[in-house]
Amino acid sequence: MNITGDTSLYGIIGYPIGHSLSPVFQNKAFEFIGLNAVYVPFEIKHTDLATALEGLKLSGVKGLNVTVPFKEEVITLADKISDEAYEIGAGNTLKFTDNGTELYNTDWMGFLKMAEELTELEGRNVLVLGAGGASRAVLYALKRSGANILLWNRTLERAERLAEVFCAKVVKSPEEGVKSSTIIVNTTSVGLKEDDPPLFDYSTIEAYHTVIDIIYWDTPLINTARKKGAKTINGLNMLVYQGAESFRIWTGCEPPVKVMKKALEDYLYSKV
Ligand code: ATR
Repeated sequence: MNITGDTSLYGIIGYPIGHSLSPVFQNKAFEFIGLNAVYVPFEIKHTDLATALEGLKLSGVKGLNVTVPFKEEVITLADKISDEAYEIGAGNTLKFTDNGTELYNTDWMGFLKMAEELTELEGRNVLVLGAGGASRAVLYALKRSGANILLWNRTLERAERLAEVFCAKVVKSPEEGVKSSTIIVNTTSVGLKEDDPPLFDYSTIEAYHTVIDIIYWDTPLINTARKKGAKTINGLNMLVYQGAESFRIWTGCEPPVKVMKKALEDYLYSKV
């Protein structure tokens, strides 16, 4: 990578940010396309979002990804919000232009592309586990795809609130949802830690189920479902696809998705 006087700057803001995998594949995409650009992580403290955004914009940064915990708050700071980001209530892609700051959401597109590669969604009963921030983009994607959404959340009121917005039916237990659906999507944080107790008895999953976990690696949910003969996928492709759509928004170029995916896989396998 040759950084010159006219290298364009892109990045990701969040807190913490050291774990972010986006720099790995975004930089590879710039390099592959031959763009004079770099993508760097910025760790921003919770109270500093507005000041940091202003500073980055004034420093000539062209675009940013936005991750936890700023995806919702960033809506209040953009000049133009895409319809999707507005309905989801969160954004993950900022583009700084001469006409102001534009905010988009590409998480839902990342989820949809990943899910559609695995299975059809229209008319299917889909159980969504979780009603937190990550769930909203998934629910939006499922609603647009014409799926019949069943929603479970540990805190019932949160599920009820989202069910109204995204036309879902609330179920009182994961078991109830598993029985009446063919696709199961985990959007909760359960599985992030190795010793997390399971959300439900995963051995109730059958071979006819398709199981998606948006966590980037194979969680106990995914591993058990695979053993039961179910179709499964973790969230790594969703990560790449949302990033690819951000790349498209910033550069106007077709994102080299295969190159991005391979960069990420090479990076992760080299760490094993
Ligand atoms: P994110 O932005 O990653 O979705 P979040 O908004 O904090 O993070 O939401 C986390 C989700 O995981 C929520 O649905 C949360 O359930 P609650 O709304 O009841 O808090 C869910 N979650 C976290 N820990 C859980 C656990 N041990 N069992 C069940 N659900 C859990």
